[in-house]
Amino acid sequence: PVLVVDFGAQYAQLIARRVREARVYSEIVPHTMSVEKMLEKDPAAIILSGGPSSVYAEGAPNVDPSLFEAGVPVLGICYGFQVMAASLGGKVGRTGTREYGHTETKVSEGSCLFANTPLEQSVWMSHGDAVQAGPEGFTVTASTDQTPVAAFENRERKLFGLQWHPEVKHSAYGQSALENFLYEGAGLKPTWTPGNIIDEQVEQIRRQVGDKQVICALSGGVDSSVAAALVHKAVGDQLTCFFIDHGLLRAGEREQVERDYAATMGIKVVTIDESERFLNALAGLTEPEAKRKAIGREFIRSFEAAQREMIAQAGADGKDIEFLVQGTLYPDVVESGGGEGTANIKSHHNVGGLPDDLSFSLVEPLRELFKDEVRMIGRELGVPEKIVARQPFPGPGLGIRIIGEVTFDRLETLRAADLIVREELTKAGLDEEIWQCPVVLLADVRSVGVQGDGRTYGHPIVLRPVSSEDAMTADWTRLPYDILAKISNRITNSVPDVNRVVLDVTSKPPATIEWE
Ligand code: XMP
Repeated sequence: PVLVVDFGAQYAQLIARRVREARVYSEIVPHTMSVEKMLEKDPAAIILSGGPSSVYAEGAPNVDPSLFEAGVPVLGICYGFQVMAASLGGKVGRTGTREYGHTETKVSEGSCLFANTPLEQSVWMSHGDAVQAGPEGFTVTASTDQTPVAAFENRERKLFGLQWHPEVKHSAYGQSALENFLYEGAGLKPTWTPGNIIDEQVEQIRRQVGDKQVICALSGGVDSSVAAALVHKAVGDQLTCFFIDHGLLRAGEREQVERDYAATMGIKVVTIDESERFLNALAGLTEPEAKRKAIGREFIRSFEAAQREMIAQAGADGKDIEFLVQGTLYPDVVESGGGEGTANIKSHHNVGGLPDDLSFSLVEPLRELFKDEVRMIGRELGVPEKIVARQPFPGPGLGIRIIGEVTFDRLETLRAADLIVREELTKAGLDEEIWQCPVVLLADVRSVGVQGDGRTYGHPIVLRPVSSEDAMTADWTRLPYDILAKISNRITNSVPDVNRVVLDVTSKPPATIEWE
């Protein structure tokens, strides 16, 4: 793999994705990983990410200089560039001014990183410190008005660095710089294609599963569908999909899954109604993490029940069914702290929420993939567009969109409001533009209204339309006022107990997309 060393900035995931867009496999590792451990992964190249620190600050993250002697091609970006300069004997210092945002840069002819791009280009900068002198043996390959050493390289040692962020779209030729590093600097080939990923995963699933039976946690979403399709391709009828109706679904969802999957994907789906089990488990719970943990636990219990049911039906030896497929994605793994050294923000139900006494081995064929890659693979596998293009819906469903205790009546209220929102957004042709639009019921909040002839004391519904590329960051979508008005009218006119509709105008960060 290409290792992206995370110095604690929000850019490491973006860099990893851009490398993969260049069809080269990449993985994120923390800067605290020893050089020895990094080299054990047999990296084809290493990229040092940006970071929030000054290289001379006390306790500033660093890497051991032996990294640069290992013969592995290295690209340093922003803070990573400065770390590289400082380790190799260059000079980094305060410039007194910050360069931030669009910056005009002059690059040298004949450089590796900037081959086949214009000599003057607009790039995205964000730094206070700057490299003042490159290390011996390095050629300076770019400069700006304020930063004489904005990039350098030593082709013989395969070491490269640049001060700006090639991974953000604001850097006009950023992707070219990354690809020049990968293809020319490191001599890699763009072989990480959907076809190859599928072949590799199919091979791995067959090895892991052997002739054992596999059951799959089908949720109706993109991730579990693509995971199921992959496993189906690998082991065919050894796979049985169960669709757990946890009672936290949106209106019509269960019926849609029952209709679509079997018909279009040729995968057998068995629906199990477990809504009572989940409602009981959620009774009295209001704290978001407690709700998430309860839902995660009941999911697994449901599948264990499903397993018993299958054994009873087939009379098979229970020991043969020991694998459970999950559509866990790379960002879930990183956000749940599985990415080594990152903060646990929410326990995603399919990672952190698993109970300890789990009696299945997990098959997680998407664990290394980002969402857009999952879609790509889904299309390649022939998963219908209707499913591949579906907006994300969290595993815990409406359970984390009712702020307060989850009850059947509250679920019915939220389902009715959510259906209206989905209908109006689709009618307005906004499905493509919106990443997803959670609809949230503030069940613990009441406000006074006047409906018909009388005073009401009802609950607010929150609309949370967001635009995003990967759910790691998001912005609130500027929906047209007339659509908002229509949604608000319909909801307050037809959904009992709701007398107010409000719009969430917060980006992520600081807020997350879901309210819990
Ligand atoms: P947040 O709220 O963390 O959400 O900004 C990021 C994305 O993840 C979805 N989400 C989940 N998906 N299980 C899932 O499968 C979960 O527990 C879960 N929690 C949040 C959320 O809808 C958004 O797309």
